[in-house]
This record gives sequence, C-alpha cells and structure tokens, in this order.
Amino acid sequence: MTVGEHNDLLHYYYGKKLADREYKAIAMKDENQCAFLPEGYTLENYRQEYPSYGYSDLKSPAYDVFNSDGNNISMLKVTDIKIKDGVYNPCGLPHILQKDNTAQTSYITLCDEVINLEVTLIYTVFDEYDVIIRSAEFKNLSDKPIRIDRAYSSCLELYTEKRDVIYFPGSWARERYMERAEIRHGEKIDISNARGGSGHNMNPFAIVCNENANENYGEAIGFSLIYSGNHSTYIESDADLNLRIMQGINPQDFSYTLNPNENLETPQSVICYSLNGIGGVSRELNRLYRNNLCRSKWANKDRPILINNWEATYFDFTEDKLVSLAKTAKETGIELFVLDDGWFGSRNDDFQGLGDWFVNKSKLPSGIDGLSQKINDVGLKFGIWIEPEMVNPNSDLFRAHPDWVIHVPNRQPTLSRNQLILDLTRKEVRDYIVKSISNILSQGVSYVKWDMNRPMTDMPRPGYNYEYTLGYYDILDRLTKAFPHILFEGCASGGGRFDPGMLYYMPQTWTSDDSDAAERLRIQYGTSIVYPYSSMGAHVSAVPNHQIGRITSFEMRCDVALPGQFGFELDLNKCTDHELEIAKKKVREYRELQEVFHKGDCYRLKSPFETDLSAVEFVSEDKKTAVVCISSYKATAYSPDEFIKPQGLCENATYRIGENSYDGKYLMNYGIVFRNDRENKSEIIVMRAE
Ligand code: GLA
Repeated sequence: MTVGEHNDLLHYYYGKKLADREYKAIAMKDENQCAFLPEGYTLENYRQEYPSYGYSDLKSPAYDVFNSDGNNISMLKVTDIKIKDGVYNPCGLPHILQKDNTAQTSYITLCDEVINLEVTLIYTVFDEYDVIIRSAEFKNLSDKPIRIDRAYSSCLELYTEKRDVIYFPGSWARERYMERAEIRHGEKIDISNARGGSGHNMNPFAIVCNENANENYGEAIGFSLIYSGNHSTYIESDADLNLRIMQGINPQDFSYTLNPNENLETPQSVICYSLNGIGGVSRELNRLYRNNLCRSKWANKDRPILINNWEATYFDFTEDKLVSLAKTAKETGIELFVLDDGWFGSRNDDFQGLGDWFVNKSKLPSGIDGLSQKINDVGLKFGIWIEPEMVNPNSDLFRAHPDWVIHVPNRQPTLSRNQLILDLTRKEVRDYIVKSISNILSQGVSYVKWDMNRPMTDMPRPGYNYEYTLGYYDILDRLTKAFPHILFEGCASGGGRFDPGMLYYMPQTWTSDDSDAAERLRIQYGTSIVYPYSSMGAHVSAVPNHQIGRITSFEMRCDVALPGQFGFELDLNKCTDHELEIAKKKVREYRELQEVFHKGDCYRLKSPFETDLSAVEFVSEDKKTAVVCISSYKATAYSPDEFIKPQGLCENATYRIGENSYDGKYLMNYGIVFRNDRENKSEIIVMRAE
C-alpha cells in the first residue's frame, strides 16, 4: 500500500511477495493510467485500503457514518503511521495471540477532518505465517455524536481475473457444507449471517481463488473472522472483474452511536494467502488457530476422551443410571463423564427450567458435588452441560425477572425451542450468570459444554447484536479466567457457533448434532478447511442413528470420530461385548495417533462432496508419521479401485504400513489402493518412517 499524492491510503498489490523495485513499477503504472484519464484524479480508478462513501469511489464503502450534518459523506486522509513489535489486543474482543512467535503490527491513522472522525487501520503480520490480521478502530474526536452504520474490519481489492468463491453454508445438523461459485461481472455477493450467533447457516469464512485452483494448486485467499456475532464477507465485482472483498460485522441491523471521545473496535479479520490451493490456505489457518488463537491452558494439551449421556438418556436419567454408564465407560478407557441437559431446576423436558442453575434434587439426590464425587470414585473426571444465555418462561428466574429477557416494549418476544434470551448487555444479568454458574463450576466440575440453542430475534435497537456479543465475551472472559483448569467446549444446537471467536475462549466446539458417521464425513471435511481437527468434538453414537436412522458399523463410527476430539455419546451398557472390544481398541489407537491428528498438517485427499468416500491425511511436523483415514460415504458393488495418494511425505524416506515398507515417492505417486465396494468400510492407515 502507499499514501497517494492526496493523502489517500491506496492499495498496490496483494499476492506472492515481490521485490521492492516491482512495487515501484506497479505505482508508476497506476499513476500513468490516471494521468491520462480526462476526469483526472478519481478514486474509482485506484485500489484502496479502506474506501469511504460520497466521493469519487462509487463502489460499496468499507465504513459508513451518519454525521450531525445529516449526511453520510466521509473521506479519510492519512495522518500517522506507526509500526510496533507484537500483536494487537482489541479490548473485549477475542484475538490472535503472540505466544512465542515474531509479530509486528502497523497502525495507520486516518482522519476525516470535517466531522473529526479518526480511524486507525491495524495490520499484524507474523514471520511464521502467511497471514495479515486486520481490524479498524473508530474514534470520535468531535464534540457531537457520530453514528456508525457500517464498519468492516478489512478490505482487499484484487485485479481483474476470473475467480471463484468458496463458502460454507448449512443448517442444523448440516453445518459447513462446502459450496463453490463463479464470481461474475458486476456481481455483489454477501456471505453473511444475521441470525444472532455466527450461525449454522453461514460460517464467517470464505476463500476467493483462481478459477482453476483446487485443493492442491492455484492461488487461494482465505478470509476468516474472529467473531461470534452477525458477520458478513462481502464481494463486489466491477464490470472488469476487479474485486473488492470486505469482511467484518454484518452491516445489516448494525448501527453504533459514538459519543465524543468514545471509540469502537472491530473484530479481527484474518486474510491468508496461498499458491498451493485451498489446502495451502487451510493448513496455514489450521496452524495459526492451533497455536496462536486459544488462550486456554488446554489449547495444546491432550484432552480427555469423554462419554456424554445426551443420546444415551436424553432427559430420562437417575443417579444410578449415570454411575452405571460411567463404570462401563471407565472399563472402556474413557476418562471424562459429561452430564448433559436436564440436571437443574424443573428441567424434565425442554419447556422448563432454563435459567435456574441449581441441581434438581429429586433427580440427583446427592447434588452436583455428590454426583461428581461418585463419578470420580469410579475413576472418571466429571463435566457438565449449561446454557447460561437462556431462560424458559417457565422458570424461577423468569418469574423473578421477566424484564431480563431481550424484548421490545408492547410486543411479545418470540419463543424458539420454548426459550428466550437473557439481555447480556445489562451488567446485572451478566453478574447473575457469572455468580450462578460459578457456584456450579465450583462443585468438582472439570469440563463444561456451553450450549446456545436459538437464533436471536426481537432486537431492541439497531446494533444490539454487537453489544450482546461483547456482553457474551465479557461473561466468557470472567468464567474462563476464574476456572482456568476447566476444559470448555462450545456448542450451539451442534455447530451453530463454530467460529474463531469461540475458539479463543474454548479450545473445542461440538461440531454438529448430526452424529451419523456418513453425514459427519461431510460436516468434518467442510469444517476442517478452516478449523483444525483438534477443535472438533466428535462422538461415536448409537444405531439406527438418532438423526437420520442410518445403520453404520461400530468400527466406522469410531474411525470417523477418531481424528477429532474423540468421545462417545451412546448407552455403552447396551453395546455388545464385541462392540465394547472395538471401543477399547479404538481408545488405544486414538491415544497413539492423537499427536499427529491434532498437531500435524491435514491434507484432504478425497472429498465426500465430490466422491463417494472421504480420505483425510495427517502428517506430523517431522514427516515421520502420517495417518490416512478413509471412510466410505456410499458404496457401489464391484467398484473400481480407488488410488488414494498421500501428500506431504518425505519422498526418499521409507514408510512402514503394517508388515510392509514403501518409499514416500511410491506412496505419493502410485497411492494406496482402496476398494469402495462395501457399505460401512473404513480404514485407518498408519505410515511410520523407518
Ligand atoms: C443441543 C445440543 C445437544 C444437546 C441438547 C440438550 O441441541 O447441541 O448436544 O446438548 O442441546 O438439550
């Protein structure tokens, strides 16, 4: 980028690193082009870092203000540039951490001197990663309020070229399905969500890539937003296929009044560049998020294998039933018992009890501390499910504080799953949540599943979703700091809030309520493009599957869950001896391979969106161990051989697979033969360098 002759912040180029003299050539080309234009200096003919509204740029702006003169016009001129060592920590928002890496941050300050609005654009780069982390900070230096109606975190302008966009829409039980579309002339594409949390329906992540780019080759640029509220990744193409790509808070329903001397910070947008296709972007973001995002002490630690009672019992459990499940789990090698929904207040179904965070003694006479002790006595740690943001109208909390829910005067708030949302913008509500949840977490709890089971409606004012998200982060900040030993797992009706903002506080997220092994292949594949397998909760469940009725083998169910944060969610007491033997074997296999699944690089070899099977490979940093997980999505009789070609191995090393040895070159070029001729076929192929 450069400061233009009129003090505008102009963008030159984004892509593979060039020599300095080449940047000068780009600058000269731009200047020459504009010198010949009859209309002279026109911003529309330049690429910009953070375009404003109202002057000679006629595309969509990166920010929008409504000032006290009653118009939206604004223009920013550069006033200051600073470069500092280290990363930037936006106040109250999750962000990339420095850890032991080398990072530098540029702060470019711009000012609209007519309305006295200051905007600082923040760019962090690392020696170790091909990413630029961007955000913007707005400051009102005037003596009048300024209303901000749009505040994207990043803007990137790209030269004319045929490009595609890859994005991750979905729904409950069908999260992060991968879609790809051509970006056409003059098109405006908004990859966004305005349903409250980051949402099932669209993940805050997109890749813009060359039309020929695939998993392994071609230019690909990833855009990932570290935020758990309404988001937007907006792409505007002009008549010549020049692109403007912006990412940040969704402008729909957004509005924030900045009073004199106040400031507004935007979430971080991570832009990642690769010439090695989608896989290149994916491995880089996986690595960044594995190492520099989560602040929990669990971030890089091996986490316990868990059993969750939800699909085993739903609301129908007794203390004895739970302890008996824990005993069988212990024999299987499982380390943590998680008590899901239904343990508190009058919660015997989903019509009541949310908000009343005290134990239901008629169900659990020993209380949480007593039950946790019993589970510990069996030899397992104890974990618990909570949904702190919500309240059922049929609850003591709602009867005591009906005004604590999100609502607007004179209107009935909308129920969803029979529940309402607490107004987290109010300090007394946040304090109640922190206090009542802390009380439970102090009773021998070592793991928490934090759920959120409805979209947000009845917004009391524009911009409320941003305020709510800040309130939510405040609660997470306080509780995770107060209980640093607890492993937190995020959840929102499955994977409805699977985003980097959550992963900053909680190292793992429940990937989906769809626990069917075949369906999970797609869900995990899409999720893995941006989020590492170490962040995905993945459980073995019962058959016929509770969501879609499919029957898969016990082995395949284990193999599909194995690379994630492995766990079980079924009544082990109903399993056959043979199934329990498989479970024990898989627990041991998981412990042996966990390091490479969770710290290695992930290569997707076969896509379940394009073929009938999924093949995913994990390679350790030193390339000495690699594992390929192959599972069939759908089999056909007498199918031809599939050649699965691992990647990222050492060409000249020899790898042992079972009793046999093969050269890295052979494996990567000839491949491993797999015949997809039988339903439920899955294989875990381990390659170890000799
Ligand atoms: C949500 C979660 C499930 C389970 C239920 C309990 O749907 O995604 O895993 O915890 O709530 O009500």
